[in-house]
Amino acid sequence: MAQITDPLRQHDWNSPEYVEDWAQRQRRNETLRARQFSLIADLIPFESGDAFRFMDVGCGYGALSKFLLESFPRATAVCHDGSAAMADLGGERMKDLAGRFEYVISDFSKKDWSRAAEGEFDLVVSCNAIHNVRVGEIIRDVYQEIFGRLRSGGHFFNLDRGSATMEDQVAWFRSAGFLDVACHQKSSGLSLYGGSKP
Ligand SMILES: C[S@@+](CC[C@H](N)C(=O)[O-])C[C@H]1O[C@@H](n2cnc3c(N)ncnc32)[C@H](O)[C@@H]1O
Repeated sequence: MAQITDPLRQHDWNSPEYVEDWAQRQRRNETLRARQFSLIADLIPFESGDAFRFMDVGCGYGALSKFLLESFPRATAVCHDGSAAMADLGGERMKDLAGRFEYVISDFSKKDWSRAAEGEFDLVVSCNAIHNVRVGEIIRDVYQEIFGRLRSGGHFFNLDRGSATMEDQVAWFRSAGFLDVACHQKSSGLSLYGGSKP
C-alpha cells in the first residue's frame, strides 16, 4: 500500500507505534476536543434523530467521527485517512459502533483521492488533518474534491491549524465553490471554517 508522507517530516503516520503514541497524547486534550466537537455538532444542520451520511477527512482514530455518530444515532460515516495504522486503531476504538462506519484509505495530497469512497455525502468534516499537506494550492484542491462529493445543499466544516490566514481559508473555500463561508471559531491554534454547496 502507498504510504503518506509529511512534507515537514514531523509525523510518521504510517508507523503503528507513532500512531498509538500520538493517540495517547490526545488524552490530555480530551476536554478541549470535546468542546470543539460539540461546536461542530451544533453547527450541523440536522436534528439528532435525522439519518445522514458524512465523511471525516483525515479522521485518524475517529475521535470526531465517534463523537458525531454518538450525537446523531442514525448517522453513518465514511472514515477517511491515509494511514492504515490509524484505521486499525480507529476500528478498534469504535467497535461499539460497528456497522455505522467504514474506513477508506487514500492520500488527500493526490488527485482524485476521494474516489476511495463511494456515493455522495450530506456532510463532510475534518479535524486537524488537511494542514498536513502544508501547501496552499493543495489545500484548495482538497476543498475542491470535497465540494465535488457533497450533495447540493451539503455542508463542509474544517477545524484545522496551520499558517493559513483567514483570508486564505475563505478564498480557498470560495474558489472551491462553497457559499456562506464563515470562520466559526479561532482558538488554541485551531480555526473552524464552514461552507455550504449551493
Ligand atoms: C493530527 S492527525 C488528526 C486525526 C483526527 N482527525 C483527530 O483529530 O484526531 C492527522 C491525520 O491526518 C492523516 N493524514 C496526514 N496526511 C495525510 C494525507 N496526505 N492523506 C491522508 N491522510 C493524511 C494522518 O494519518 C492522521 O490520521
